[in-house]
Amino acid sequence: MGWWRLRRVSGYLGAVVVCGGCVARTCLTSGVSGETERSTQESGDSDEISSRGLTLRQVQVFFRHGARTPIHLTPNVEQATYRADIHNRVLPHTHFKLQLKSLQGDTIEKSVYERQYSKTVLRGGCVSGSLTTCGQQQMFELGQKLRAEYVSQGALLDTSFNQDQVYARSTNINRTIASARCVLAGIFGADELNKSGTASISISPLDNEVLLPNPHICAVVRDINRAAMLHFDNIPGILHDRLRLEKVLVRVDLDNEVLLPNPHICAVVRDINRAAMLHFDNIPGILHDRLRLEKVLGVDSSTSGHKVNFIDVRDDLIARQAHGLHVPEKLLSVQDMIESNATKIMYHAFCGQHEAEGELAVRLTAGPAMTMAINEMKAFIQGTSQRRACLYSVHDSLILPLTVILGAYEGRWPPFAADIRLELYVDLKGHHWVRARYCGKVVNIRGCDGPFCKYSDFMKSISQYLVEKDDYKRICSSNILKKIAKDLVMQNNKDEDDEGRSDTPAGL
Ligand SMILES: *[C@@H]1O[C@H](CO)[C@@H](O)[C@H](O)[C@H]1NC(C)=O
Ligand SMILES: *[C@@H]1O[C@H](CO)[C@@H](O)[C@H](O)[C@H]1NC(C)=O
Ligand SMILES: *[C@@H]1O[C@H](CO)[C@@H](O)[C@H](O)[C@H]1NC(C)=O
Repeated sequence: MGWWRLRRVSGYLGAVVVCGGCVARTCLTSGVSGETERSTQESGDSDEISSRGLTLRQVQVFFRHGARTPIHLTPNVEQATYRADIHNRVLPHTHFKLQLKSLQGDTIEKSVYERQYSKTVLRGGCVSGSLTTCGQQQMFELGQKLRAEYVSQGALLDTSFNQDQVYARSTNINRTIASARCVLAGIFGADELNKSGTASISISPLDNEVLLPNPHICAVVRDINRAAMLHFDNIPGILHDRLRLEKVLVRVDLDNEVLLPNPHICAVVRDINRAAMLHFDNIPGILHDRLRLEKVLGVDSSTSGHKVNFIDVRDDLIARQAHGLHVPEKLLSVQDMIESNATKIMYHAFCGQHEAEGELAVRLTAGPAMTMAINEMKAFIQGTSQRRACLYSVHDSLILPLTVILGAYEGRWPPFAADIRLELYVDLKGHHWVRARYCGKVVNIRGCDGPFCKYSDFMKSISQYLVEKDDYKRICSSNILKKIAKDLVMQNNKDEDDEGRSDTPAGL
């Protein structure tokens, strides 16, 4: 139970990315968007904005928290030392009077995630999963970049903090709350925020949280994720080997009986896992590389019973690199392999095991957050809200499927401090336009030609991912994955039949 819980916690809230000491590379300086590419793009943009007669009216920013201490340790690798006096210092220029507001009820509930993290005190005294000093600085710098574009230049926001214009919301986890604090400090300055005394960050209870793919309220999300996290090995040819499939299914069912107290949910989960098992062959090569990694680490999972997970090893490795700590040579030698396999598993965990369930999975993992953002946009357009900047402090587990919604997923793990922006413009005729950016770089939103997407086209092209609360609950407790799996099996059988008739001329 213990290992499973820990893994579950991390499964949703992520591991990390390529990011050096506080030489830290975030997406702002790494390959995702080169600094030079960025600046030419931005100056080109401002020309286009003025020639189109566009005015920026609102920006919404989802950002991943900054560098943090690891959540996982690697078997047979000596722990790194995270000295609390170095890595846990609060940066003075990010420190100001801040209120946390509950979005529901009077008090903010104790975070189940923090309870889990606090159990692991790392060598050196830092708690696992906490935003480090380096991470604070990264977020502060993201805030400064936002300031340069939206306060000084674009004049979207007043230079002094105005609580009617700026809304900040975070998951109920210390590193995201602290990240939001640092971003605010970067935008307005801690002095100014102290003077205003009105800055706050809103937090939702877990049973209403849309800022992360929420396994606590969505059984389908949990099971898609679990399938990828627990059963990530490739089983070649499983679709064609019924006997073998049956055997595997029995094992999976037993696994889940232990994990799930609720018989109603359990039945759904059984179906979902069956679907996941059918889709295994979608992650080719994972088994092979896992065994290779275990060999490098000197781990034998066949005797220990614990498979080494790429995501866990990556988490440890990236956290070391982010803070300039020693990385053992044996891990460095297989870093690319760890990176690509971990990213692949991460993708499947939030975007589904099989293409056929991809849209559904993304709708359930990132759809509620995107719907929230769209509702903010609508409210602004309709004049019922004055919020010109909405800041959402989140995790890689949300950033990744959000990039999928926008059509901007590049097969990379979202780096620390990675940000997605949705900018809302109005033209001289009063028509609205949307532009999206990932790590500063303008993305061509799916279904739109060019960097600016007509609001109505934007809504059309992402509408299949939006989901309101009632629908979400209904889908989450449905047997929808089972239906998809059934369709796939039927499709597969049909393909086999078709193969047998391949000499039949088409059209008869
Ligand atoms: C803001 O005020 C707090 C006390 O409420 C103080 O500890 C902090 O240093 C101040 N921040 C700055 C940047 O002056
Ligand atoms: C998270 O923040 C709360 C409130 O500041 C604090 O009491 C708690 O110890 C922190 N948790 C960890 C694991 O550091
Ligand atoms: C795992 O890593 C290896 C080496 O980089 C790569 O060839 C393979 O495609 C990766 N597997 C997946 C599923 O990404």
